[in-house]
Amino acid sequence: MTATDFDIPTLRARRTNKWHKFPADVLPAWVADMDFGVAPAIAAAMKRLTDNQEYGYAARDGVLAEAFARRMGSRFGWHVDPADTIALGDLVQASFSSVMAFSEPGDGVLLQLPSYPPFMGAIADTGRRLIANPMRDDGTHWVLDLPASVNPRTRMLIFCHPQNPTGRCFTRAELEAVASFVIRHDLIVVSDEIHADIVYPGGQHIPLASLGAEIAARTITITSATKSFNIPALRCAVMHFGAPALKVRFVARMPTRLLGSPSVTGVDATVAAWDEGQGWFEEIMACLQGNRDWLASAIAAELPRVTMRLPQATYLAWLDCRGLDLPTSAGQFFLDKARVGLNFGETFGPEYAGFARLNFATPRPVLEEVVGRMVEAVRGR
Ligand SMILES: Cc1ncc(COP(=O)(O)O)c(C=O)c1O
Repeated sequence: MTATDFDIPTLRARRTNKWHKFPADVLPAWVADMDFGVAPAIAAAMKRLTDNQEYGYAARDGVLAEAFARRMGSRFGWHVDPADTIALGDLVQASFSSVMAFSEPGDGVLLQLPSYPPFMGAIADTGRRLIANPMRDDGTHWVLDLPASVNPRTRMLIFCHPQNPTGRCFTRAELEAVASFVIRHDLIVVSDEIHADIVYPGGQHIPLASLGAEIAARTITITSATKSFNIPALRCAVMHFGAPALKVRFVARMPTRLLGSPSVTGVDATVAAWDEGQGWFEEIMACLQGNRDWLASAIAAELPRVTMRLPQATYLAWLDCRGLDLPTSAGQFFLDKARVGLNFGETFGPEYAGFARLNFATPRPVLEEVVGRMVEAVRGR
């Protein structure tokens, strides 16, 4: 069996949200985890814990921060001080706590749309105001379209890089434009870089905070190994503050005990992934690239009225289905008529009901079945 060879009964036997949110006749292609396994080094780390029955309070001080620093240095040439980090359970918690620490209720928080839905929650649920900044389809890619000015009560930007759901991996020039925008408008930026590993040939992930000291001093980078190494249930993430003073400001507003701490399974799996998982990851990337390219050509050939801009990063395809002129939202149509569970576009922003997000990190036969069902549903209208 290869790293990407799993059949539907095996996948459905997993007690995951992906495979159990919808009725059993629906093929799921939604939430961002992969229908694959994990790197052998992660499996060995988990076995070590169970073999030792090692469930006592963990002695792992600094281990995650040091692994993070090694990984950022070796993978992105970004050299960080482990002391500038905070370890916590997940990125959503990191985004909520950053918004609460660096803005006040009623302040504006800028966010590119379409957006990973919990970012809108981090703004609305904390009483901040969403300043929507729609991205633009330039005919090849989704591009940033930063506003010329911002209201003075705008305090923050939540920046997703690579971008979910559009799959954009921003260029150095685009990132420099973001950095000067942030500096010009005196903003603090939360840079979510969880998808940073999953960049296809031709692109390169550049951490926003690596551009220079001035932007770093305003940037909280949030990341984890959970997307690229397929361990989201293990709850382990890192916040990195681009200057010691930024961390001091955060901690003064946000008692860190309130953030809890990552699980020992999460820490051990993350360290194993970052230090020893690269061989496995490269096998997965080859499969993801094959799936991405197959999907793009299948959609062009079989669903010509659906537009898919080739994602440069992530295993997510953002499908513009407006050309189908559907009676319901695209997600609802494919759920009802194709029995395929995609992410509904409207959850990424109210304007996007004509879109749906498809997760292609699945064995090829499953992906072929997903697309086959979608094609049948469109032909049967
Ligand atoms: C951009 C982005 N950020 C954060 C997350 C979730 O991270 P966590 O599970 O650590 O909260 C996801 C999951 O899909 C994501 O796509």
